[in-house]
Amino acid sequence: MSKPYKVVSDLVLEHWDDPVAFGEDMLGFSADEWQQVAMMDVAQYPRTSVRSGQGVGKTGFEAVLVIWFLCCRPNSRVVCTAPTKQQLNDVLWAEVAKWLESSMVKNLLKWTKTKVYMIGHEERWFATARTANKPENMQGFHVDHMLFIVDEASGVADPIMEAIQGTLSGDDNKLLMCGNLTRTSGFFYDSHNRDHKPFRTHKVDSRNSKRTSTSKCSSTNMAPKATSYASGLWGVS
Ligand SMILES: Nc1ncnc2c1ncn2[C@@H]1O[C@H](COP(=O)(O)OP(=O)(O)O)[C@@H](O)[C@H]1O
Ligand SMILES: [Mg+2]
Repeated sequence: MSKPYKVVSDLVLEHWDDPVAFGEDMLGFSADEWQQVAMMDVAQYPRTSVRSGQGVGKTGFEAVLVIWFLCCRPNSRVVCTAPTKQQLNDVLWAEVAKWLESSMVKNLLKWTKTKVYMIGHEERWFATARTANKPENMQGFHVDHMLFIVDEASGVADPIMEAIQGTLSGDDNKLLMCGNLTRTSGFFYDSHNRDHKPFRTHKVDSRNSKRTSTSKCSSTNMAPKATSYASGLWGVS
């Protein structure tokens, strides 16, 4: 078997269902407690939604999941989106570059401004960054192994979320939404409230996160009820 298939097949066997171990072993990413639980949810369930204030590590854990999914799923597709080009390129895409750069898989994947692809398979096996400003940007992705990541999900309009939902029809097609609940309506808000059933939901409390200082804590969590907390640091409802 030729490279990268040989290398990738080993990664697949070991880490298909374990992004936490993958992050640790391949990227030197030691996941915080809530990140570990949410990462395992993404591996095991089709829909995950994480809400919190700024600075708890959402974009960092999304970036690790991008690299994990590409390395552990053959011919996979990851679509990353955020409301603005700035949020997407300067924040999430830059975070992917940061973790890839020093990783043990940096020779497998090529990072460019718009795509991160499996070397030798640029057309079929890649992650891409698409701004969430028109539904058309989200359409036309139908592959067996797909991960859709929506950063700053509160700012993504419902027609765009509907287009994203429409692409997620396969068994191994996953959706991860992360953001701050900055408004009390919309698809992301509903995923933590009336439409929470299909989702694994997490509420990360900025006040308890080791990545935030008190001054950065947000008071914009507008959920009507508190999610139950398992450890005081993260909660799953
Ligand atoms: N488990 C981790 N280990 C080391 N650094 C991390 C970890 N999680 C996040 N970070 C870093 O912490 C900083 C803030 O996290 P970020 O993901 O941007 O937070 P958020 O998206 O919730 O605002 C980033 O520089 C990110 O790389
Ligand atoms: Mg972020």
